[in-house]
Amino acid sequence: MESKNIPLIGDKFPKMEVNTTHGKMSLPGDFKGKWFILFSHPGDFTPVCTTEFYSFQKRYPQFREMNTELIGLSMDQVHSHLKWTEWIEENLKVKIEFPIIADTGAVSGALGLIHPGSGTNTVRAVFIVDPKGTVRAILYYPAELGRNFDEFVRMIKAFQVADEKHVAMPADWPNNELFGDDVILPPASTEKVAAERRGKEGCLDWWLCHLPLEK
Ligand code: BEZ
Repeated sequence: MESKNIPLIGDKFPKMEVNTTHGKMSLPGDFKGKWFILFSHPGDFTPVCTTEFYSFQKRYPQFREMNTELIGLSMDQVHSHLKWTEWIEENLKVKIEFPIIADTGAVSGALGLIHPGSGTNTVRAVFIVDPKGTVRAILYYPAELGRNFDEFVRMIKAFQVADEKHVAMPADWPNNELFGDDVILPPASTEKVAAERRGKEGCLDWWLCHLPLEK
């Protein structure tokens, strides 16, 4: 597998032309100004993947409200994607509205989606890309584990708040065991800021401060 130069967090998503169930698309250009989640699955007509597509489609309106698009990918042909999504619509009563890439290996190679120890199919990968085309998160799951789609909703919400308010999110935000739905101030970058934070309300120490979002 060609695994050199796969994009990492903070890198620009590589420019590529892809063949999809919605026709030819250019990435990341066709999603300029929007967040997008590119996710791969091992193969069409497989049980766990079918449950994943159902769950992603159910949340698609919520993602769109958050200016976020979805695009699936596997190394199956367009006609296989179309037959599979037709089956999903007929049997599970959900129409898959987002595009699915029919990859011949080029996209999977560029994004590191094939992990030889896990076989020849694409693993369950997730790339979250921001409106400037920068990769913000990469997640990999094995074939036997379906993804938690509420987590991707949480991640998009968290990124958008973090970017707008210049804050960070604690574990399990917005249900953190210590700080509830408070957010975290980025580390103090100067002695002056560190000194200001000592003893301040919401600061357990100069490097650990939390505050409600509206402040
Ligand atoms: C599934 O989606 O059910 C699946 C796909 C590949 C390997 C094992 C399970």
